[in-house]
Amino acid sequence: MRFGQQILASKLRFWAVFGVLAFGCTKLTLDGIRQEAFLILNAAQEIKRTTEARAAETVDLNDALEESIKRVLASRPEAEERIQVIRNLAHDLPPLYVERNSLLDTFVSIIQNGIEAISKEGVLSLATCLGSVNDQPSIEVRISDTGVGIPPDDIPKVFDLFYTTKEQGLGFGLWRDRAFVRKLGGNIEVSSAIGVGTTFTLKFPVRSDALS
Ligand SMILES: Nc1ncnc2c1ncn2[C@@H]1O[C@H](COP(=O)(O)OP(=O)(O)OP(=O)(O)O)[C@@H](O)[C@H]1O
Ligand SMILES: [Mg+2]
Repeated sequence: MRFGQQILASKLRFWAVFGVLAFGCTKLTLDGIRQEAFLILNAAQEIKRTTEARAAETVDLNDALEESIKRVLASRPEAEERIQVIRNLAHDLPPLYVERNSLLDTFVSIIQNGIEAISKEGVLSLATCLGSVNDQPSIEVRISDTGVGIPPDDIPKVFDLFYTTKEQGLGFGLWRDRAFVRKLGGNIEVSSAIGVGTTFTLKFPVRSDALS
């Protein structure tokens, strides 16, 4: 944590000084900017990870999904008109032991991507069920949209840091989401078809004592 904060502080200092000096007189390459941003993000991630380990709690996954969709729609009221939300949620799910806000950030990021992929009207589906991951029982979450879809060649890139096709995008959301899910011992996969839509499947391993 302290190490992460130091890196972050030194990077922020660098950018503050750089911002003043470089204004109008220096040219920094795009790779240089990306490298610096990468280090800042890594430091921020480290700080976040440390906080997460302390703040884990028992979370109902269906509730977390409901809260996430509520948050997204509250921040984009126009989407409520054009997007139909369908739920197919299992009601016998064991609780998950996880840092709740990071889980919400993950769902919000994927739901937001889904809504952004639907240019006019469409459907966003949220589904949960029991499954397995790495030979362990898991809760499976599927978030699907009827949006533009992802070209087959681009599918392997979507989790890359800074991969974005959006004018205002950072290419950070899915990279962070995958890191979070993997840290819990789970995984995240995407399947997509152009003009049909996209599905993200997230698997979260469940503690055996949560199953009884
Ligand atoms: N549901 C989806 N349908 C179509 N393309 C998607 C979908 N989700 C992600 N993508 C593609 O993957 C890219 C990376 O997504 P990611 O969430 O990491 O970044 P972003 O949305 O571009 O920016 P941000 O960092 O603000 O989230 C997107 O720019 C888009 O091209
Ligand atoms: Mg995104």
